[in-house]
Amino acid sequence: MTVSFKNGKASRRQFLTGAAAAGAGTVAASVAKAAGDPLITEKQVWAQATGDGVDATPYGLPIEFESDVVRRNVEWLTADTISSINFTPIHALDGTITPQGCAFERHHSGAIEMRKEDYRLMINGLVDTPLVFTYEDLERFPRENHVYFCECAANTGMEWAGAQLNGAQFTHGMIHNMEYTGVPLRTLLNEAGIQTEGKWVYVEGADASSNGRSIPLEKALDDVLVAFKANGEALRKEHGYPVRLVVPGWEGNMWVKWLRRIEVTNQAVESREETSKYTDTLADGTSRKWTWVMDAKSVVTSPSPQAPIKHGKGPLVITGLAWSGRGAITRVDVSIDGGKNWQEARLGAPGSKGAMSRFYLDINWDGQEMFLQSRAHDDTGYVQPTKTQLRDVRGLNSIYHNNCIQTWWVRSNGEAENVEIS
Ligand code: MTE
Ligand code: CO
Repeated sequence: MTVSFKNGKASRRQFLTGAAAAGAGTVAASVAKAAGDPLITEKQVWAQATGDGVDATPYGLPIEFESDVVRRNVEWLTADTISSINFTPIHALDGTITPQGCAFERHHSGAIEMRKEDYRLMINGLVDTPLVFTYEDLERFPRENHVYFCECAANTGMEWAGAQLNGAQFTHGMIHNMEYTGVPLRTLLNEAGIQTEGKWVYVEGADASSNGRSIPLEKALDDVLVAFKANGEALRKEHGYPVRLVVPGWEGNMWVKWLRRIEVTNQAVESREETSKYTDTLADGTSRKWTWVMDAKSVVTSPSPQAPIKHGKGPLVITGLAWSGRGAITRVDVSIDGGKNWQEARLGAPGSKGAMSRFYLDINWDGQEMFLQSRAHDDTGYVQPTKTQLRDVRGLNSIYHNNCIQTWWVRSNGEAENVEIS
């Protein structure tokens, strides 16, 4: 089979290595075909005049042809857009870093606007010296850079009872993965001096919802970051500008945005108020609490319902994302026959704890229908469960923490659908 590349940018060498990786088939435009192709033979409009000057877009935006690669929401999911969620277009991205403009948003009372000058962070409670930091104060502490994923506990939550939403963006898009710059929370807590009775921190945001959550002190002193940059630039308003909490590997709800106050307490404030926030209802009706860590999970992002195969049979790159809150991703398996046979995928880079991994499986597709699945392994030995295995333990009444194996039914015309197979 032949493929013509409209922009002619892919080199012959790339074609050859691509084909070799796939094991068979040719991914190259024939010279004969190129001869009759006006994109090769005619001078194009973009070569007939000069382009935009350097001052056209002081802050660069994606080119108009990529305008469909955007966050989307599902209107019927929430009553309004203020206390709502939208989804990262994971089906259209590659690599592992989520651009901030594509990163899902979850607000309980809308995204607020605050100037750096008006920012204050208070540390109080069981500390020797209660402290208040300005933004400038935070900038004077030694800072670190780390890449971490943030996954809402509700990600994939609509899929418990059956295959529901038709697209990786909607089934798995409540996640983003960014490089954060910030000060370890440990540094600030030590500055205030934690008293011996201190066992938890209660963290809250400056928005109307405040999104208060308790975090065990052990975690707070381990790898939690008070972050003010993401992917090198200031946090976007919707991700908590100017400062948010980064709680590696733990559910997104604890990543408090517009971070305003940290109170050292001797018990979890949630248990003090007897709230039942973020529990998982099990098959027998009982509730599972304190499920903070996000278990290993993965999804094939392409092909998928929003990213069908357009080129027919032959060389095909199957790709997706894998992550684990407990450790680094060590391996991802891909099945094209609904889990009967598995092949080990290639990781884009060695896994890193709490960060996303990209995987690829390069195959020579015979054009037959596929039941595509991926299965993540992390360095604790944990293996991502099937939907049946997860339901056996958790029943059908949960919303949160659904990390089961996803299935896409790819038909021979290349279109894909969200399905369940038992
Ligand atoms: N922090 C505040 N202050 N207010 C919020 O509504 N939502 C939480 C968390 N932190 C929230 C918050 C939830 S449920 C999630 S999943 C993450 O922020 C989402 O972060 P993002 O909007 O940057 O994707
Ligand atoms: Co959430």
